[in-house]
Amino acid sequence: MSTHDLEQIFQERIDAEIKIEAKEWMPDAYRKTLIRQISQHAHSEIVGMLPEGNWITRAPSLRRKVALLAKVQDEAGHGLYLYSAAETLGAERDDLIEQLLTGKAKYSSIFNYPTVSWADIGAIGWLVDGAAIMNQVMLTRTSYGPYARAMVRICKEESFHQRQGYEIMLALSNGTEAQKNMAQDALNRWWWPSLMMFGPSDKESSHTEQSMRWKIKRKSNDELRQQFINQTVGQADFLGLTIPDPDLKWNEATGNYDFGAIDWEEFWNVVKGNGPCNKERIRASIKAHEDGAWVREAALAHAEKRSARAAQKTQVA
Ligand code: 3HC
Repeated sequence: MSTHDLEQIFQERIDAEIKIEAKEWMPDAYRKTLIRQISQHAHSEIVGMLPEGNWITRAPSLRRKVALLAKVQDEAGHGLYLYSAAETLGAERDDLIEQLLTGKAKYSSIFNYPTVSWADIGAIGWLVDGAAIMNQVMLTRTSYGPYARAMVRICKEESFHQRQGYEIMLALSNGTEAQKNMAQDALNRWWWPSLMMFGPSDKESSHTEQSMRWKIKRKSNDELRQQFINQTVGQADFLGLTIPDPDLKWNEATGNYDFGAIDWEEFWNVVKGNGPCNKERIRASIKAHEDGAWVREAALAHAEKRSARAAQKTQVA
């Protein structure tokens, strides 16, 4: 069959909501954009451990420490899950890690901001994981089977992440004046970067149109961003906190909140590596990779020994 025929059958399967599996034919461009998106998603999970890990030793109570430890551990698991999903497409994990550590690969802009107070841990759980859930629930219906299935497991854990973050913000907002101010300060610093997580506007997005045609994406960046804002304003009201956007206003006609202009210059600056913590995040990732080399070597040596022993046994048998 010609490539044209194969592409036609492929698109018919996508349109018929048939999941694409690893061993089935797919256009090279479909495979390429999935490796791009899934690997960057995995990098985001791994780098996302750093801003929160910064507060594990300083959590205000054992209960908060345990919840934060569990969350950071979950993120590591999400990263490994997603690297495995990328490997089903033929990607080599070592290549993906090398792309992250050399700055060739992107990861979510949101993780390049500092966590300066305990309230930031609340704001990250509430807003960042809240935004991630918005996006990842959509991805549970993505056309590539392994990615969709990975999302089902990940979304269950993200819900706990979001709840523990919101509970931190609730405790602070109902606390002393100083604690409430801490929560408001964190909201002020994390609100706009959380909106940027959804990616550039639809008209600026280079991948959305094709990703929607292939049902990798089911909703556009702007649609998900709007959904997130609509859902989060009421939560901020309940906390008694003010969202740092003077243009935020309910629009009865559209059934959405109108909101102010996003600073896309800041967004692209952070994406290009010039955010507040980009260099620190890569340095920490390189150090973690180097410190963990002995574990990888030991695991590989053990695997080689086991396969040599298995080969010996089959020879003897
Ligand atoms: N940070 C960094 N780069 C971003 C970005 C962001 N927030 N948003 C978009 N970009 C990049 C894209 O990667 C693309 O660059 P590339 O061609 O070099 O890959 C470029 O900007 C154009 O953006 P598009 O919107 O056209 O790209 P996509 O169609 O890929 O959409 C996306 C961007 C919505 C982030 C999509 O890639 C996606 O859904 N990814 C999977 C979800 C994900 O990665 N979430 C990140 C957070 S994970 C997380 O928060 C973990 C949680 O546990 C806290």
